Formats: sequence, C-alpha cells, structure tokens
Amino acid sequence: MLNILPKPKSIVYGYGTVGDEYVVTLDKELPEEGYRLILNEKGIEIQYSSDKGKFYAAATLDQIAAQCETLPCVTVEDAPKYPYRGFMIDCARHFFTVEELKKQINVMAELKLNKFHWHLTDDQGWRIEIKKYPLLTEIGSVRLSTRGDGREVKGFYTAEDIKDVVEFCAERFIEVIPEIDMPGHFTSAIASYPELSCHGRQLKVSERFGIHRDIACAGKDETVNFCKDVLGEVASLFPSEYVHLGGDEAPKLNWYECEHCRKRLEEHSLADEKELQGWFTNEMIAHLASLGKKAVVWNDGASVNLDKNAAVQYWKQSSALDKELVKEAKKGREVILSPFFYFYFDYPHGMTPLKKTFDYKIPSEIENNVKGLEGTLWTEYVSDVRKLELMAYPRLFALADKAWSGEGDYTDFLVRLDVFAEFITDKFPVAVTVKPNPSFLKGKKDVLMFFLNILDRNTLRVARELRKDKRIASKRKRKR
Ligand code: ACM
Ligand code: ZN
Repeated sequence: MLNILPKPKSIVYGYGTVGDEYVVTLDKELPEEGYRLILNEKGIEIQYSSDKGKFYAAATLDQIAAQCETLPCVTVEDAPKYPYRGFMIDCARHFFTVEELKKQINVMAELKLNKFHWHLTDDQGWRIEIKKYPLLTEIGSVRLSTRGDGREVKGFYTAEDIKDVVEFCAERFIEVIPEIDMPGHFTSAIASYPELSCHGRQLKVSERFGIHRDIACAGKDETVNFCKDVLGEVASLFPSEYVHLGGDEAPKLNWYECEHCRKRLEEHSLADEKELQGWFTNEMIAHLASLGKKAVVWNDGASVNLDKNAAVQYWKQSSALDKELVKEAKKGREVILSPFFYFYFDYPHGMTPLKKTFDYKIPSEIENNVKGLEGTLWTEYVSDVRKLELMAYPRLFALADKAWSGEGDYTDFLVRLDVFAEFITDKFPVAVTVKPNPSFLKGKKDVLMFFLNILDRNTLRVARELRKDKRIASKRKRKR
C-alpha cells in the first residue's frame, strides 16, 4: 500500500514491472492542478493539463519512489478539492530570514499548498522596504525590547529579497500574498510617521502584544494616500492575484474623537465607525483593482458595506459569524477558512491537538463554496525557526490533506503522516513535533501556560479599552 500525503483522489494498483519509458502527455480534459500518473510495463507517464499538474505529479512520484525499492505498477488520478491552500507566516512579530522561509516553502510545495500568505507588517515591526517611505524600515523595523526583555528584534526584506522569495515560490507554483495590515496593527507605521494616526503623537514600535488602540486615521487624506502609495509599491513587487489588507482588530476609540474621522463619516453619510472602516478598506480595494489586484480582508474587518469583490478570510468564530460566513459564501463571496480554534498553529498542541485540526468540519452547506483553507503561524511567542517548525508541523500536514482532498479518515491520515514525516525530514531538515496529541494533563498544562504567558501588566488596561470601544460601538449602532 502506498502512503501519499495529501491523499490522492484514487490509486489503482496494477501488476508487473515498471518499464523504462518516460513520457509526459498533455490532456486538456484534466483539471488545471490535476494529473494522472501512470506507472506500467511501458514506463512512467504523466498526464497533465498545466505545468501545475505536472509539478504535483512529480511530487507524488517522489513520495512513491521514497517508500518502494522498485516502483510499483499503479495509476494515480488526482486533483485538489480547493483552489486555495495556504500557509501564513507572521514575520512582523519575529523576523525570519529568506533561507528560513525557503525551507518552509519547500515543505509547502511537497504538501501541494499553493498560497504563501506573508504577514509583513504589524504593531511590533514593519518588515518590507518601501522606497517612498524609508522611515518605515529605518524606524519601523526595529523593536528595542519585547515585554521588558531588553533584546532588540529587527530586520526587513529588501526588494531583492522579495524577488528571491517570489521566484522561489513561483518555481513551486506557490503564489505569495503579501499582507499590509491596516487600519489596525499599524503602530510600527505610526512610529515611523506619527502624522498617520488621529492624534499625531510619537509612538514607539510596540514592545507588547495584543490589540492596540492607535490605528491609522481614516479621516486624513494624507493617511489614505500613504496607504495607497504603499500598496502601489507592494503591487509592483508581488505578481500575485491577491494582496491582503488585514483589517482585523481595529478598535475605534481614537476615531470616535477625531475631527478628521468625524468629517469623513459625515461627508460619506456613513452610519458608524465600522462603516468608516468599510469605506477606508473599499478605497484600498479600488486602488488595488486599478493595479490589477484583488483584496483579501480578515472577517472582523469586513463591514456591511465591504466591496463584494473582496475575499474574506474567516478567523473569528461565533455562531453569528458562522451564520454570516454561510450567507456570504452562498452569495458568492470568496471565503477562506482559518478558524482560530483549529488552524492557528501558534496555539500549543495541548490546546489545538493535531486531531482537532484534522477533524475540523467545514459547514456542510458551503463545503463546495469555500475558496479554500489556510493555516496560520503567528509569532508573538515564536522567536526562532525551530520553534516555528515544531508548532507548524505536523498540524500543517493535516490542513494540507484537508485542503487537497476534503474530509478524511483520521486513522488513515496517521499512517500516511508517519511515512510523510520521514520523507520530508529526509529531504529538508525541518523539526516535526512527535507528540502532537498531548496527554490530558500535559494538554491542560499547555493551555494554562499559554494564558499565563499572554497576561502582562497591559492586559487589564487593554481589556478595559476594548470594553469601552464595544460599548460605544453598540450605542452608536442602536441610534441608527
Ligand atoms: C488575527 O488573528 N488577528 C487575524
Ligand atoms: Zn482620525
């Protein structure tokens, strides 16, 4: 029995010895990323309809060759369930070198993942060189300390680095989707150019984690133009179909009191600050569209007036949001699923064991409407690449299996996982967690440590601010 990960659509076993011929045949009837791999007495034949299919057929052949002394006669027929199969790495909270990223991209390619979502900016660091605004990297890419540890964290990617990563990914049929998070998670930009916020005060690149109240001012034209300029340069660096605009966790406390934001709200007859975020995001979406790009936003940034052409990435979950997800997907909105309880790989294995990731059920009524799935690796508490790998693997293997082949059998997955883990670690020196389903006690300890780690002296203040933001937002909503 062959063990292939992600699981192919069908494997039919034959008899005899595989011959010496090697042919590739174009078959336009096959799906774009699909392939047929035939090993028989004549030899090896790969049938494909695009270079992507050819690439995935070769990846499967490689896995077969690694587990058999002599190639078996077999026909593998294959195509992915979802066109969007992603992995996000947060390079803002901690910086990872191009070589470190390439190692993970190699693993992604073997898993037949095809979207590398590159989280490049956040409160704690701006990691992409923007020629028009040099202070973004001069100031914004340097964090002097993290939660009082006195250790500097810095680094950014030059245009050359980006070209290198984009080309490396393109050779593996992976699209690189850059994320410039706005209007929230924007402290590193404000630290570089204080006039971008509502109050214009000088801030430091943030040395703490969590949600930040100082966000980009949606009322000032100079902020809107700055964001458009940045996106213009980003669009020229990345040949991707999509650019991610973030949009998550943007408290409106400053907007309520800002004369520029109030003026914008009135000028455009917007009902509330959530709609103001929608207006701001739509400006960016229109700008990206003029540059030939589609936008993605996180679901908590998706307001009622959000442009229907933007894709939405669902990370937040609640029964109301799940209903909204179903409604949006049925309406034809492109939706990407990253439910945090299941697909956030920075969570300890005790909180999100491998089985939980594997067992995530895509709401059945939209199983065939979603664009795809994405695993995310936030790096607040992941400061080196070994930790990154131990958190990502093998949970990313489960996500890739689901994104390629849909619902599967966990016991069957575990067998394939063992074989794949050996294959991948022989090929690329990555670290894979060997006990991704910890015992009950270890699991509880993991969860406790995780929450203790999150708590710091800012926690209560931030919680108070967020409660106030929610209170004001709901009052304003009631007044409508
Ligand atoms: C997110 O986790 N703030 C998208
Ligand atoms: Zn403002």
